[in-house]
Amino acid sequence: MNLQGKVAVVTGAAGGIGEAVVRTFARAGAAVVLGDVRSEQGESVAAAIRAEGGRATFVLHDASREDGWERILDEAITEFGGLDVLVNNAAIEQTCFLENITLEDIEALMAVNVTGVLLGHKHAVRRMKPGGTAGRGGAIVNLSSVAGLIGTPGLGVYSASKGAVRLLTKAAAVEFGRLGHGIRVNSIHPGLVETEMGAKLLGDFVALGMFKDQDDAYAQMKAASPLGVTSLPQDIANAALYLASDLARTVSGTELVCDGAMTVS
Ligand SMILES: NC(=O)c1ccc[n+]([C@@H]2O[C@H](COP(=O)([O-])OP(=O)(O)OC[C@H]3O[C@@H](n4cnc5c(N)ncnc54)[C@H](O)[C@@H]3O)[C@@H](O)[C@H]2O)c1
Repeated sequence: MNLQGKVAVVTGAAGGIGEAVVRTFARAGAAVVLGDVRSEQGESVAAAIRAEGGRATFVLHDASREDGWERILDEAITEFGGLDVLVNNAAIEQTCFLENITLEDIEALMAVNVTGVLLGHKHAVRRMKPGGTAGRGGAIVNLSSVAGLIGTPGLGVYSASKGAVRLLTKAAAVEFGRLGHGIRVNSIHPGLVETEMGAKLLGDFVALGMFKDQDDAYAQMKAASPLGVTSLPQDIANAALYLASDLARTVSGTELVCDGAMTVS
């Protein structure tokens, strides 16, 4: 499985799953453009990839803002000569019972998790489709979640956003296919992943009184998966690598669930 000759843009690439994705893609031969709102961490991940012989550059990019999208995608084309893969990974999490949610919090989360992903599709397809400035088709991989598949108390707003990403993925897969753009679109649905967001989620569940403490939350989340596992960022990066690669040539509109069978039991 390799990405030789491909150029990939990954949002939220300064840490967690996004960082694992760019490191994995670079090792597989892709040139990578890292976007994130955290410059210091993003620059340092890009530098580490270059130190290992990879091709990487960081762009300060807030996925919820439209002007930034043009800049980061054009950077891929001018710096590395194309745009073949977009991974819409950036997202924020928010845990709150629905009776207490605020309009401000809903709008802030939706701006990154839904609007940002929609804008990514808009600006990527314009460049990737035949006749676009990159013009050789491509693959879009969207990070949804098991929260986009099943209900969880305290995750109403986050789940609404991840459910939206799941169906946006299918709509885009059909639209880009029918219009002959040569662009595949798929979503990944992780269960708990051991990242900053994963740790915050467990802490928030404890604060809502759903678990005794952080250890109890972790143990119960693990036990909820028949395989008895949680994911590492690398597990999700491996799934993204497959969907981005030509081995997935006929795979589009699908949802790749990485949850140790949690949502099928
Ligand atoms: N960690 C989990 O348990 C888990 C489970 C299922 C799905 N996911 C999804 O996987 C993806 C990555 O999650 P993670 O665990 O690595 O999260 P994380 O919080 O550890 O990392 C997210 C990265 O996105 C960046 N980011 C936040 N807002 C941004 C914005 N507006 N523009 C650009 N970058 C921004 C952050 O700075 C950070 O570097 C997210 O879409 C998340 O919803 C995570």
